[in-house]
Amino acid sequence: MSKILVTGGCGYIGSHTIIDLVENGYEVISVDNNSRSNQVILKGVEQITGQKIKNYKVDLCDFDDTYAIFQENTDIEGIIHFAAYKAVGESVEKPLMYFENNLVSLINLLKCVKEFNIPYFVFSSSCTVYGNADEIPVTEKTPPKPAESPYGYTKQMSEQIVNEFTKSSGMQCIILRYFNPAGAHPSAIIGEMPLGKPQNLVPGITQTAIGRIEKMSVHGSDYPTRDGSCIRDYIHVCDLAHAHTLALKYLKDGSNADQCEVFNLGSGNGVSVLEAIQSFEKVSGQKLNYELGPRRPGDVVAIYANNDLARSVLGWDPAYTLDDIMSTAWKWEQRLKADETVFSNQSGELN
Ligand code: WQD
Repeated sequence: MSKILVTGGCGYIGSHTIIDLVENGYEVISVDNNSRSNQVILKGVEQITGQKIKNYKVDLCDFDDTYAIFQENTDIEGIIHFAAYKAVGESVEKPLMYFENNLVSLINLLKCVKEFNIPYFVFSSSCTVYGNADEIPVTEKTPPKPAESPYGYTKQMSEQIVNEFTKSSGMQCIILRYFNPAGAHPSAIIGEMPLGKPQNLVPGITQTAIGRIEKMSVHGSDYPTRDGSCIRDYIHVCDLAHAHTLALKYLKDGSNADQCEVFNLGSGNGVSVLEAIQSFEKVSGQKLNYELGPRRPGDVVAIYANNDLARSVLGWDPAYTLDDIMSTAWKWEQRLKADETVFSNQSGELN
């Protein structure tokens, strides 16, 4: 059985990807220092898959600790690298923390790839690398503009590091540019667990609806868009997860034409903030308490994906709709409220 190392395996996209990998026959181990995640999520993964997933609670910025994982697991065939800080606003306040964490962890991993001849590497990137694109929908060939935040720069720089590294090694790599990941596993056993007040729209909507947030603010209603609010491409986390399994298969089959290929992972549909709210109100049957507030610095006006390449080359076919995103996110938020004790347990054990 092929063993895959998932970094950030206790995170939102990492945990959902582990489920898809296991369901497709992979053996998976995780490395996650739990600085932004809770190991309890792997109990949920185990509940869904029946597989106990080992997590190495290691900071990838510590080279020796990272190296030791590979010494202990000499049969790692591939790495899916999620672990990174990803809060746009925080990155503006603490740029050095973002550059150090996101780049040193990647470089340490690639040093181990070199040392242990790991053949396959899938890198978690983001549509943020496009900045305020001149043309939308964006394709993989759309030239990147200056990033809107240090977080965005770490993704642009990481892509360059990975690309350059493949030229000096035998590593075969796929870079996946996520648009806006959202929603939760349909079982409502796992989902997004933002630390503190959520920055992202969908958890902001569901936490407002459940009463954890008094009133949500729409960040800007005077943009040059069809209803004045920003346009994004929301993609269900389970669709996103499956794309990673397809990317690994593509590499293992030797189908990749180049050593480092890039794919957009978005639904291909542009949705405004107000349209997203309308979708939530429709599926939940609840009116959302929100106001039209000021613009948020760093926001791009509109971006959504041309996902033809992932569809035609990887065979990716995103199945979940915007309504599915909202209904699964809402079901998960209601589960979190019902089982507050379950997720407040920091020991990582499900009560
Ligand atoms: C979406 C839209 C907000 C909250 C970022 C990163 C991207 C990825 C996803 C990591 C924007 C508006 C939001 C709220 C609002 N991160 N909004 N009220 O900024 O498009 O993307 O997160 O992988 O790389 O750049 O996502 O969900 O924060 O915002 O009006 O309470 O919703 O202004 O227009 P974003 P988001």
